[in-house]
Amino acid sequence: MLRGKKILLGVTGSIAAYKIASLVRALIKAGAEVKVVMTPSALSFVTPLTFSTLSKNPVYSAYIEDEETGEWTNHVDLGKWGDLMIIAPVSANTLAKMTTGECDNLLMAVYLSADCPIMVAPAMDLDMSDHWTTEKNIQTLKDNGVVVCEFGEGELASGLSGKGRMAEPEAIFETIKAHFEPASSLKSKTVIVTAGPTYEPIDPVRFIGNHSSGKMGFALAEELATRGAQVKLVTGPSSLSVSDSGVERFDITTAEEMFKAVEEQFGNADALIMSAAVADYTPKTVFEQKVKKEDVDLTSIELQKTKDILSHFGHQKEGRRVIGFALETENEIENAKKKLQKKNLDMVVLNSLNDKGAGFKTDTNKVTLIFPDRELTLELKAKTEVAKDIVNELEALI
Ligand code: CTP
Repeated sequence: MLRGKKILLGVTGSIAAYKIASLVRALIKAGAEVKVVMTPSALSFVTPLTFSTLSKNPVYSAYIEDEETGEWTNHVDLGKWGDLMIIAPVSANTLAKMTTGECDNLLMAVYLSADCPIMVAPAMDLDMSDHWTTEKNIQTLKDNGVVVCEFGEGELASGLSGKGRMAEPEAIFETIKAHFEPASSLKSKTVIVTAGPTYEPIDPVRFIGNHSSGKMGFALAEELATRGAQVKLVTGPSSLSVSDSGVERFDITTAEEMFKAVEEQFGNADALIMSAAVADYTPKTVFEQKVKKEDVDLTSIELQKTKDILSHFGHQKEGRRVIGFALETENEIENAKKKLQKKNLDMVVLNSLNDKGAGFKTDTNKVTLIFPDRELTLELKAKTEVAKDIVNELEALI
């Protein structure tokens, strides 16, 4: 979750500044980009070279970088660069200035220009941390949305022992990580998603298939994983890939294989979303060898119905949520409602082929969500956005 995130790290004058090197290292290792801004007094505790080496970025500490050329640090650009600004350690002095807006160094100018969320990890001695002004300043920052990594307790640089130590870099790292983690509303939930087409073999080289790309199912899988769900993605042949590690992928080819894969996962699942375009029919017999024109007069193929996976599990749901898709060309809502009832579903996502931009290979979709007691028609939007709407509804159902 930290990959690619831009972290502005402010360092102020405190002995805890040396510990922050390990935070920079951890952030870089997790794939974040880090730019460090130091106050003049922080320079007495740790050198900019330490942070520039670890962050692989220049370290900023003064408005004027080069007196001769007049090169200056644009605090506004820096402030706008970050996805998050954290000041750690933040001294009692900077803490106070953050509540009044006093702007007497580059770090304060960057802080005042930043329009991203702000975090602080205060560090000071026992009596300073206990002082009513410190308590008031911390409260003011909290009231204004600043996230505070609370003081630790223990031995202090002064020789005293008690409250005032900066939170450990590992704890600060976890707070930053948690900040970028999306609401894990579906944590501890397991959801099966089916996607793509199924291919029903005629002989070793020919099959009956359809145009489904799997885009809708893959978008659903990614969205569910983003919200913390354990996703079992059962997919027919598709060129798509999933990047989220919360998605476990099962590649199948035929409707029968999809049925078995869903059956294996269903016992431990909280929900099933059947977005796959499952073949309704499959050849009754499959030729073992490629059919030759001279040998077989293949002008007709005898088909048999595949198992209706959605209906089968809809009738065995026992507290699970089961969602189906429907593609209708006439009496759309009425037919979708019938499907909902007949297959014992919690929701049907109705696609209409009559809508421009909806359908198999497009990146957009226009759907109506049908529930037993209501309908929700959504406008044409990206399949990734439709996935969010569907998962919102599933979340409410769960
Ligand atoms: N489905 C399934 N197993 C099948 C066929 C379809 O689980 N053998 C699921 C699809 O994944 C989708 C829904 O059923 O969620 C779509 O059904 P659809 O094919 O539109 O309707 P059918 O019930 O097959 O009826 P009809 O084709 O007559 O509309």
